Amino acid sequence: MIIAIDGPAAAGKGTLARRLADRFRLAFLDTGRLYRAVGVKLARSGLDVSDVETAVALASEVTAADLDDQELKSEAAANAASRVAAMPEVRAALVDFQRAFASNPPGGAMGAVLDGRDIGTVICPDADVKLFVTARIEVRARRRVKELRERGLEAIYDRVLHEMKERDARDSERHVSPLVPAEDSFVIDTSDLDVTAALVAAVKYVSSRKLSG
Ligand code: CDP
Repeated sequence: MIIAIDGPAAAGKGTLARRLADRFRLAFLDTGRLYRAVGVKLARSGLDVSDVETAVALASEVTAADLDDQELKSEAAANAASRVAAMPEVRAALVDFQRAFASNPPGGAMGAVLDGRDIGTVICPDADVKLFVTARIEVRARRRVKELRERGLEAIYDRVLHEMKERDARDSERHVSPLVPAEDSFVIDTSDLDVTAALVAAVKYVSSRKLSG
């Protein structure tokens, strides 16, 4: 079984994806980490984040080990990710890694949950279940501030909100694989849902799809 979860930043995709993977014993891939890894490597090499050629070379060399780098969690990494993610060549270079994970999940799992921006639309268009997880931008910015502060980082609400608006715009307006719900996705708006309520809604939907499939 493949579950595709897409949606904007801090909508609750990651938490939901992890819990669904536990619940249904599936492997989990946070595809944002692939783009973050490329963005961070590019920044570390001292090159400009608009250097397409190097970004593509780095993308084609990404390994599972690169995805554990703690630096990937920073907002700087998120912003660098959304810049390299707008390059069609970088996206193309990361397709095989994602599809291989979905079709041949590690640890002998019977399927996989992938979360990102274009999983249901481009990477796994035949996924058994497609969820689009979203929330109002103010709610998402508040969540991200809380998350950053819990990690001991400084976070100013207005700045986080501003950067999130910019990143939403970059992700939604890019020509290749823009952030849009797949036509056949089930939308979960988590603005007024806590983690458990969102999980309950998703499990109910996944179970109904499993029964009908
Ligand atoms: O955790 P958060 O939702 O803030 O970010 P993320 O999922 O790690 O993604 C970081 C950035 O990578 C996004 O803003 C997108 O530009 C890009 N991305 C993408 O284009 N496609 C994906 N499948 C995953 C991430």
